[in-house]
Amino acid sequence: AGRKKIALIGSGMIGGTLAHLAAKKEMGDIVLFDIAEGMPQGKALDLSQCGPVEGFDAKITGTNDYADIAGADVIIVTAGVPRKPGMSRDDLLGINLKVMKAVGEGIKNNAPDAFVICITNPLDAMVWALREFSGLPHNKVVGMAGVLDSARFATFLAWEFDVSVKDVNAFVLGGHGDTMVPVTSYTTINGIPVNDFAKIKGVDQSRIDEIVDRTRKGGGEIVGLLGNGSAYYAPATSAISMAEAYLGDQKRILPCASYVEGKYGLDGLYVGVPTVIGAGGTEDVIEIELSDEEKSNLKVSTDAVEELLEACKGLDSSLA
Ligand code: APR
Repeated sequence: AGRKKIALIGSGMIGGTLAHLAAKKEMGDIVLFDIAEGMPQGKALDLSQCGPVEGFDAKITGTNDYADIAGADVIIVTAGVPRKPGMSRDDLLGINLKVMKAVGEGIKNNAPDAFVICITNPLDAMVWALREFSGLPHNKVVGMAGVLDSARFATFLAWEFDVSVKDVNAFVLGGHGDTMVPVTSYTTINGIPVNDFAKIKGVDQSRIDEIVDRTRKGGGEIVGLLGNGSAYYAPATSAISMAEAYLGDQKRILPCASYVEGKYGLDGLYVGVPTVIGAGGTEDVIEIELSDEEKSNLKVSTDAVEELLEACKGLDSSLA
């Protein structure tokens, strides 16, 4: 069967970081695709030359031709534009929708058997559009957001409690936007519900609320500090964990933007939910019990996603 093949559509900040991580982990051979000429080829050369130092075997190539993604097992999509300070993810919709159309067609015509992970924002709408444009089955197209949002939540909690991040299991549901729903009732510190842990540690509930709020705005905080782009290390490593779950048939339960039909009262929508990822792609969605408040927060979030889908349909009649 030979090595696995990982195609990265978009070779910017996240794309380059993805390539480095995938090579270091020897996940397979890597193709960096971009519309910018020379850039993916240059990054591929630079990254290839990490091999002798880091001791990995991976063939890394750069291309501007979709034909080179043929046979890809996993495709990770970051093509498009990132936010600038002051922009919301939703402000990217018009530009990135057109990019998803080109990418979806490129995948459909060249690598229709791949497992596709979308990172491009606004995430929940773009993964939906990419699925529509590519025509791939819903279980083979998924969005990366929840792993990142949970990692942000876990980081802040670990800092607050002064415990290892390894012992924090943070839970975030809903869309990848300021309406996302960090669910404290399912967030634990080594199995201890976070609100109980806060009491043990003498941490006020208002601090947890502040951390929830910081998590919701976690991407924007980084955009503001960087000044000319958005986060890339943690988004890249989050998507790699999803790719590993697929390639290794790990059956991990990861929060992902998955297609939900029936569960959570949803009728065919991509939104962040706990998802089993294995060799079958997104194999199952886990429907957890939510409190009335959590339910209504999730509704606000899914309504926001639905609004974006309507906007997409207005911009591209082939989606309507
Ligand atoms: N096809 C392929 N690549 C494209 C296309 C296209 N139609 N349009 C733009 N690109 C490329 C750009 O040339 C650029 O190299 O996508 C790359 C995006 O890289 P960056 O600008 O560095 O953005 P990055 O930080 O990687 O974020 C990418 O992920 O988190 C989201 O909001 C973020 O939507 C953004 C995406």
